[in-house]
Amino acid sequence: IIRLCYNPNMDSLSEILLKAQKNNWAVGHFNISNLEQLRAIMETAKKINAPIMIGLSEGERKFVGLRQAVALVKAFKEEYGLPVFLNPDHSHSVESAKEAYDAGFDSVHIDLSKLPFNENIEGTKEVVDYVKSKNPEISVEGELGYLRGESRIQKEIIKIKPEDLTKPEEAAEFAEKTGVDRFAGAYGNSHGISVDEPALDIERIRSVRKALTENVAMVLHGGSGIPDSQIKEAIKAGISNIHVNTEIRMAYAEALRNFLAENPEETTPYKILAPAVETVRIKVEEKLKLFGSVNRI
Ligand code: 13P
Repeated sequence: IIRLCYNPNMDSLSEILLKAQKNNWAVGHFNISNLEQLRAIMETAKKINAPIMIGLSEGERKFVGLRQAVALVKAFKEEYGLPVFLNPDHSHSVESAKEAYDAGFDSVHIDLSKLPFNENIEGTKEVVDYVKSKNPEISVEGELGYLRGESRIQKEIIKIKPEDLTKPEEAAEFAEKTGVDRFAGAYGNSHGISVDEPALDIERIRSVRKALTENVAMVLHGGSGIPDSQIKEAIKAGISNIHVNTEIRMAYAEALRNFLAENPEETTPYKILAPAVETVRIKVEEKLKLFGSVNRI
């Protein structure tokens, strides 16, 4: 298998996330379904000198292929010399997390947050132990709390209940018992663009941050549609890694739809897709600037 080997001169993901946490910025994590989106993200990261995470959900992985994703990211990593980490976003089973690691992914996300607390701990720990026994440098993420929605434009209001939010004492117990390097929680965030404006519970983020040890990074999922001011507050409160998918999908799909409507005769894929690549570039640059990721290499 191809593995995305660490360059000994480059920081590990855990080291980068700790620096981000200490200096109040966040590493951007963007999802891809194809080479064009990956290219747009990598070109932007290179342009502004930002470390970056590339994520593929289980559906995205099925479409692109595990080894294919590893090979594509490896090619950009070698060509650009950037710290880029490939993450199997929201692996919903121990098997799918292990499978991605075995295929060469150099970060892991196991999301068993829909399971009861103890089963979540058990499965997450199994993945942490598996990955660490092979390579202790690989950063593993676990998730706790109820994150609603999917990465699309939501048609209905997503009601987030107080009991959905991650409890600081449970976060601490979860992190301690599983040994995760990254902790994803629910703080009023949801996947996709919600009908009403999301309201992050910044105080909750702060108290979870206090409950966790410094070496555990805090991840914010559902980054699309959250107002910039709240993103900045969340970073100040302790978030050092932010996931964005829907806004990338929307930018890509809209550019593609517009181009095809205006140029119904065009058949050359690289001409059809060029405007989509450009809009993704613009969107990613906007987000990385907001996260304070510029010149962090
Ligand atoms: P959004 O689709 O809301 O940006 O969420 C993405 C995400 O959290 C992927 O892990």
